[in-house]
Amino acid sequence: MPDKKTPAEGLDSLLEENRTFDPPPGFVEGAVASDPTIYETAKADPVSFWEGFANELEWAERWDKPVEGEGPDMRWFVGGKINACVNCVDRHAAGERAHKTALIWEGEPGEEVRWTYAELAKQVNKFGSALRTLGLGKGDRVAIYMPMVPEAVVAMLACARIGAIHSVVFGGFSSESLRDRIEDAGAKALITSDGGWRRGKEVPLKRFSDEALADTPTIEHVIVVKRGEFACAMQDGRDHWYHELMEAAENPCSPEMMDSNDPLFILYTSGTTGKPKGIVHSTGGYLTGAYATTRWVFDLKDDDVFWCTADIGWITGHSYIVYGPLAAGATIVIYEGAPDWPQRDRFWKMCERLGVTVFYTAPTAIRAFMKWGDEWPDGCDLSKLRLLGTVGEPINPEAWTWYHRHIGGERCPIVDTWWQTETGQILITPLPGLISTKPGSATKAFPGVDATILDEAGTEVPVGGGYLAIRGGWPARTLGIWGDEQRFIDTYWSKWDRNTYFPGDGAKRDEDGFFWILGRVDDVINVSGHRIGTMEVESALVDHEAVAEAAVIGVPHEIKGTGIVAFASLRDGFEPSDDLAAAIRAHVGEKIGAIARPESVLFAADLPKTRSGKIMRRLLRDIAEGRALGDTTTLADPAVVETLQKKYEAEAGD
Ligand code: WT7
Repeated sequence: MPDKKTPAEGLDSLLEENRTFDPPPGFVEGAVASDPTIYETAKADPVSFWEGFANELEWAERWDKPVEGEGPDMRWFVGGKINACVNCVDRHAAGERAHKTALIWEGEPGEEVRWTYAELAKQVNKFGSALRTLGLGKGDRVAIYMPMVPEAVVAMLACARIGAIHSVVFGGFSSESLRDRIEDAGAKALITSDGGWRRGKEVPLKRFSDEALADTPTIEHVIVVKRGEFACAMQDGRDHWYHELMEAAENPCSPEMMDSNDPLFILYTSGTTGKPKGIVHSTGGYLTGAYATTRWVFDLKDDDVFWCTADIGWITGHSYIVYGPLAAGATIVIYEGAPDWPQRDRFWKMCERLGVTVFYTAPTAIRAFMKWGDEWPDGCDLSKLRLLGTVGEPINPEAWTWYHRHIGGERCPIVDTWWQTETGQILITPLPGLISTKPGSATKAFPGVDATILDEAGTEVPVGGGYLAIRGGWPARTLGIWGDEQRFIDTYWSKWDRNTYFPGDGAKRDEDGFFWILGRVDDVINVSGHRIGTMEVESALVDHEAVAEAAVIGVPHEIKGTGIVAFASLRDGFEPSDDLAAAIRAHVGEKIGAIARPESVLFAADLPKTRSGKIMRRLLRDIAEGRALGDTTTLADPAVVETLQKKYEAEAGD
């Protein structure tokens, strides 16, 4: 929980919130986006504005129509033919960037690998051929469950090359999460590794994969990258070593020309109810949106070294490690391990060693750095940095200010970028050469994007709070939810009219028209910048033999932004104990992944419910945050919540 602040300190941060930071003079002149009239031009004709970026990509056939349909059915660059891998690799490898470094990788133990675009081209061609030899091709789904190694990028791009749809599953997820995602997508192949390194320990990805594969009949092939000397079992006929396939593989591998609206990938994200949603992204529109925003938001120039610290298992890794920056011909940094390994200055040592110029991370990471102390970044040479970014959750002004001072040397603009797995690309953000920033605000919609605030009835709120809404379209928007069109319409396109996208976030707009994102308005908890559905965690809780019923809520957490607190009632024959709480927490970690593990489990004889049986999370939140209880008149049994409150206060007082 955050430290309690004195009123004076509270005022301080309020004052900070009102400060604005102009783009530094030197920055403005050279900025990629430097003409303030682009906002007006793009607003007047957004479709031509986006076509301008699409024109900078390489198409095998130009589109007939830039945009067709509306709301859930909107499609971009209809009739166009394009291959994402060609755009990210071939066109650079065949031109002036052939010998430019495409990627710099650091393993957690300290190895370094540098690949030029020519080298990357060789790798993706060979692996594309290898996948084809196994019988994989256009439209097949391929799951990728990898540590952050260069082969993970090769795997994604090789799928794109042959038209296979990749589904990257975050390497921190459990085997059950992997299994569910393989099952939902009907994946034919899995690309994994023997293991990976995290805080000096082995993460046994192949073992986890094998557990998942016990019940995934659709998987025909498993390709295993040898990351280290990790012990792993190989199943004859099904499992193949990556390096053996690569030895035999042919170069070149002809790229499959895809329709602009053929899926490039599926990426699963948590929803309010039920199982995770497979968010499907297009090829042409997605690439255009990722490319455009990479260039303009991160102001990428040819000599930049761009480090987005996300994992490729999240959308940030897809759009701003792989597709956006490589389409722009940038040099990217990829790091395998933890930020505090071997010491708490690993990121800053890497920035110094690799000459990182543009750095993009999450507020949760910044809060951890703050807590670890100024001495770690202050002891490193960060003078090459020229631009910083954040994503994933609202950044508190204290963390913003710290980032600005200790990482950016008060010289680097900060781009606070709002977007989602579904949007594919950044939608609300400053353009660093054009927009003055305010700590904690994602500022303005990207040119060509029509963002606004609406109230429940759909009436525009010019100044003040409400729901964030996006009207019209943008090229990288999702095509839909894999196999569930109705859920797609219900979740995003049904709150107001069919042409207005509802992202599920609350936000306010200030007098200057700046957006301040307030967080989720549904039952989704944003832990460390990643969405976790309350339902998923609750299902994992009741899956434990001792738990009869469970409810989870998000509570403020110093580092994670929000932490999960679980309330559980036990089955007959089980007694509350610290050991049982620990076992239940661990069970959730095993079912979903460590990211979903509750901070604490509170035992309750009963959970507060309405007469219709709905758990009243609002009251649980009041209890957890030590507030006076809100309206309890709809409770079936008011005594339940009083008992719980007393119990909670007694435990907190220990
Ligand atoms: C949700 C999307 C987009 C990549 C990371 C997360 C929250 C994201 C910001 C920001 C305030 C933010 C929203 C959004 N969010 N960026 N700059 N300021 N909140 O992707 O898992 O799809 O989550 O993250 O609540 O809806 P995701």
